Amino acid sequence: MEDRGFDLEGRLDARSRNDLKRSLAPVDRVAERGYFAAPSGGDLPVLGADEALVFGSNNYLGFTDDQRVQDAARQAAATVGTGAGASRLVTGDTLVHQDLERVLAETKRTDRALAFSSGYAANVGTIAAMEPDVVFSDELNHASIIDGCRLSNAETVIYDHCDSASLREKLTARAERDGADEESWLIVTDSVFSMDGTVAPLRAICDAAEAFGAWLMVDEAHATGLYADGGGVVQAEGLEDRIQIQMGTLSKALASQGGYVAGSDALIEYLVNDARPFVFSTGLTPPAAAAASEALHLARHSDARERLWENVAHLRDGLESMGFEVLGDSQILPVLVGDRRDALALAAGIRDRDVVAPAIRPPTVPEGTCRIRVTPMATHDQADIIACLEAFRTVGEEVGLL
Ligand SMILES: Cc1ncc(COP(=O)(O)O)c(C=O)c1O
Repeated sequence: MEDRGFDLEGRLDARSRNDLKRSLAPVDRVAERGYFAAPSGGDLPVLGADEALVFGSNNYLGFTDDQRVQDAARQAAATVGTGAGASRLVTGDTLVHQDLERVLAETKRTDRALAFSSGYAANVGTIAAMEPDVVFSDELNHASIIDGCRLSNAETVIYDHCDSASLREKLTARAERDGADEESWLIVTDSVFSMDGTVAPLRAICDAAEAFGAWLMVDEAHATGLYADGGGVVQAEGLEDRIQIQMGTLSKALASQGGYVAGSDALIEYLVNDARPFVFSTGLTPPAAAAASEALHLARHSDARERLWENVAHLRDGLESMGFEVLGDSQILPVLVGDRRDALALAAGIRDRDVVAPAIRPPTVPEGTCRIRVTPMATHDQADIIACLEAFRTVGEEVGLL
């Protein structure tokens, strides 16, 4: 008989041969330090004996461990319920969701906001629901944006990373084509790019969008909570009136789970009706909504942002002064290594010294640009930052990178 099945072992072997196989390694808690278990496949994990410092998480403000955020989640579970029980449009809409959306809209300075069950769902659902004829997308946009473009069936035009001149060239070329006047155009960009730490030139992108009558969607997944008044780069630059769709996630600085879109009344009302991951998926869990709401409140009104940015400056200075090249211009510090095996050796070496920061390699980044993605948290203290720097110095010398 013909074999019409799938050779999964073969596919996994190919991944292993190319140093591309990944595996799960659980930790006992989500915080700036924790006990990790070695990858154990389906077996019971066994936690290591030494506590490791975590410099690889998107829990930038350290709020997963904050008593007030945990209390908010606990209280929502106890009073509202552990799950939404249905799509928001059926019986899953609760006062906790409404409260979260009100605070998000206030922070993002828009009419309204809408919570999705993940940032991935927010991107895919929103781009597909807009039904654009053409999407202009930064070449390094997140996978959920790429998947949203695919699902929308739009023609996707890729422009060079963070390059508004390249965007303008693509817009100009498209505008010259027959029928372009009848098309709907959406420009989409991350604001902070998760693997490069770069920040999109939003003002110049707004100028380009307006010159061609296109709409602009900005993904603030790695910026929400970290910039002006707990908003993102859009708020830091005062661009909310020039950007039609602001999107973000609750799962990084806001220490929870879920995504959101913020914008005009019409946009939100449209997405409530037409974004399939909103309509056909159970609402965000009430504890997740309450935790995100409390974390956003703390991002706005505590000193956590200040502490994060101090740690970022200290770590970047330390790494650069020992001779590493650190990319980007944000709280994400990608330490450029180049070769895949060197990056893996550096990540393994610092891991042996109880510092966890992942090696990023193809297909996530191009061959030859492998890096260690270092992300400090607001809750790391001076001694933690110094321990991380010392690990990088020792292993960097051992691997021959310094
Ligand atoms: C830029 C960007 N957009 C969207 C997402 C998806 O968000 P979530 O993890 O909440 O699904 C991520 C997270 O991985 C991201 O980095």
